[in-house]
Amino acid sequence: MKHITILLAAFLTVAVMPSEARNAKKFFHQTVEIPAIEPKVITIGTEKSQLVLAVKENRELLFLHYGAPVANPDSFMEYQSGRNTQAFPATGGTFLGDPALHVKYADGNHNTELRYVSHSVSAQDGAVQTSIVLKDYVTGLQVTLVYQAWQKENVICAHSEILNPGKKPVELLSFASSSMTLEADKYLLTHFHGGWAYEMQTSREPLEFGTKVIESRRGTQATQTENPSFMVSLNAGEFSEDSGEVVAGALAWSGNFRISFDRDETGLVNILGGISPFASAYPLKAGATFVTPEMLWTWSSEGAGGASRNMHRWARRHGIYGGGTVNPTLLNSWEGAYFTFTTPTLTGMIDDAAAMGLEMFVLDDGWFGTKYPRNNDRTSLGDWKLCTDKIPEGIDYLASYAHGKGLKFGIWIEPEMVSGVSELAEAHPEWVVQSPGRALYESRWQWVLDLANPAVQDFVFSIFDNTMQLAPGIDYIKWDCNRPVYSFGSPYLGAEQDRFYVEYAQGLYSVMRRIREKYPHVLVQCCSSGGARVDYGAMRYCNEFWTSDNTDAISRVRIQYATSMIYPACAMASHVSTVPNHQTGNVTPLKMRFDIAAAGRLGMELQPKNLSPEERAFADRCIKSYKGFRDVVFNGDLYRLSSPLDTDYYAFMYVSEDKSKAVVFEYCLRYQNRATGGHLIKLAGLDPERSYKVTEQNVDSSCWWGNGKAFRGDFLMNGGFNPVLQQTNASAVFVLEAR
Ligand code: GLA
Repeated sequence: MKHITILLAAFLTVAVMPSEARNAKKFFHQTVEIPAIEPKVITIGTEKSQLVLAVKENRELLFLHYGAPVANPDSFMEYQSGRNTQAFPATGGTFLGDPALHVKYADGNHNTELRYVSHSVSAQDGAVQTSIVLKDYVTGLQVTLVYQAWQKENVICAHSEILNPGKKPVELLSFASSSMTLEADKYLLTHFHGGWAYEMQTSREPLEFGTKVIESRRGTQATQTENPSFMVSLNAGEFSEDSGEVVAGALAWSGNFRISFDRDETGLVNILGGISPFASAYPLKAGATFVTPEMLWTWSSEGAGGASRNMHRWARRHGIYGGGTVNPTLLNSWEGAYFTFTTPTLTGMIDDAAAMGLEMFVLDDGWFGTKYPRNNDRTSLGDWKLCTDKIPEGIDYLASYAHGKGLKFGIWIEPEMVSGVSELAEAHPEWVVQSPGRALYESRWQWVLDLANPAVQDFVFSIFDNTMQLAPGIDYIKWDCNRPVYSFGSPYLGAEQDRFYVEYAQGLYSVMRRIREKYPHVLVQCCSSGGARVDYGAMRYCNEFWTSDNTDAISRVRIQYATSMIYPACAMASHVSTVPNHQTGNVTPLKMRFDIAAAGRLGMELQPKNLSPEERAFADRCIKSYKGFRDVVFNGDLYRLSSPLDTDYYAFMYVSEDKSKAVVFEYCLRYQNRATGGHLIKLAGLDPERSYKVTEQNVDSSCWWGNGKAFRGDFLMNGGFNPVLQQTNASAVFVLEAR
């Protein structure tokens, strides 16, 4: 009777408890055992760097070290006690910081605790790949961390793969590619902000306690407000080009991104890089895997310069489509003709380009539209049929005219867009990114096509494909993208709008993959109002980027300086335009315009007929000399010798990997009547024991006493030389050849 009374009392207690409390009791009794494991270290190394992770007895995966390699990384195990530097922190358990992973399960639960299951290592093509499988023992959710360590380049490409093995979908509320912890007394962050025509401006700021975020929510044109890349100088209050520890990172993704730097109460900085979770609670179906984009990491003890050189080498060899080859010089029709041309305008430009020694002609915007001819930027995007009023002979005529003159031929498209006034908008209003009942905001009088929709992906592919059929042997496509996404919404995705931003970028890559399968050899320039899509995601498919619509040489100095921190010169298209041009009123000497454009892939973007005979002759000479040293610009190592941000003289040089040839650039941005008459620059990266003959290029009047002479590398690096640049906007270029 006593027992019955107790049981009855227990039953009544449970029966009258509120349902949440009953659930809590049930949760409490369902603790899942996690089998203990022998602690161990996992080392991910390159020739000059080492990332060390450790598996604790309770299977937590900790971050322990990213820096110079040590011979016995097991010693780092001594660090592990008392540490909670999770290698890939997830929301849940005792972790209360900014998560790399935040999952909401079908039952509404937000807790994930990742624990080590296994790891494997494989090697191929100069990279060692380590895959570490983690899982949440309660839900079964699995995350594989993949690290590809490029041995010679000292770059680690990291991403995560999230598998939902359950029977119900889950929502990914945060899903970073990679997490990295830094430990120093001081941290100086360098990142790159900007907008149209002033992209890649350098920002430097100490990382204090709290969280600093760089991100983009623009959908398309993701790199226009911030580039998904950065450098952190460690233990230094000041930025150093050639000494000190630097960690650099870049996310290979062309959509919304978020990179956060969280300095916690203990002083450590945790960096997370990945797709932005903004409006993207991504539904991961039962059995599905979500693969995040790659986050690139490099560590160098040789300052920012060392970090840049690592990134550049990796990019030339593995990160840029066709990297390592020299792309042709060109004349682009845009700033020379804009929308106003007919066949003779273009054949005239082709004649001039050939006569000047350029190697390609690119027909920019304005060649298409039949019902609505593209005579300005208000109409016709989407209607990719030749405008026969302008070019009745056809694109094949123009292409073969260029080929006949020994030039390659390229053409412009903007396939992700549709003008409000276009046949495409009339035929397929449901293909436009839009939100029901809301204004269709225009920007440059155009709308964005919904690349989350497979039918639109097919259409965008067909634009490229059909354009390639306009003439045999089209050599180059300039792919533009001139506006961000507003009032986002995909008619195709219905109620699943959380997928939009992610699937737009995935849709873009899927089209680009198809293009590369069919057209492996065509050169593709990634242009997005200039530098609005400068990222290593797009560069997997593109040979180069249009660095900025700002072709003003002086503005370009800062843009190109910052671009060079992360991206190599071989991808950086840089054109000589007229002065004053449509961006600024600066009247920069033609020599300086050439000397600045020659630091990347040189081109011209003006009407050659407007040049005087003297200017033409000078241009011919600059193009010829560029062809003599561009192999070093494309494939050499960059040494920045000063900075345009804090000196009046910006100097840098490229050195071939075997150190037999170099090219030095110097620009005087503000002359201040220095007593020395010149400005001493000490070169870098040369072989101290070899003798180099120094020849000045693009000479209008020689500016160095040593021109044509030979000097040992140690003299050039330790003694230096002082080109006499005696006025604002004077510049010099020198080629050094080892004898
Ligand atoms: C964008 C590009 C330019 C040019 C124009 C054409 O602004 O960045 O280079 O192609 O479009 O409309």
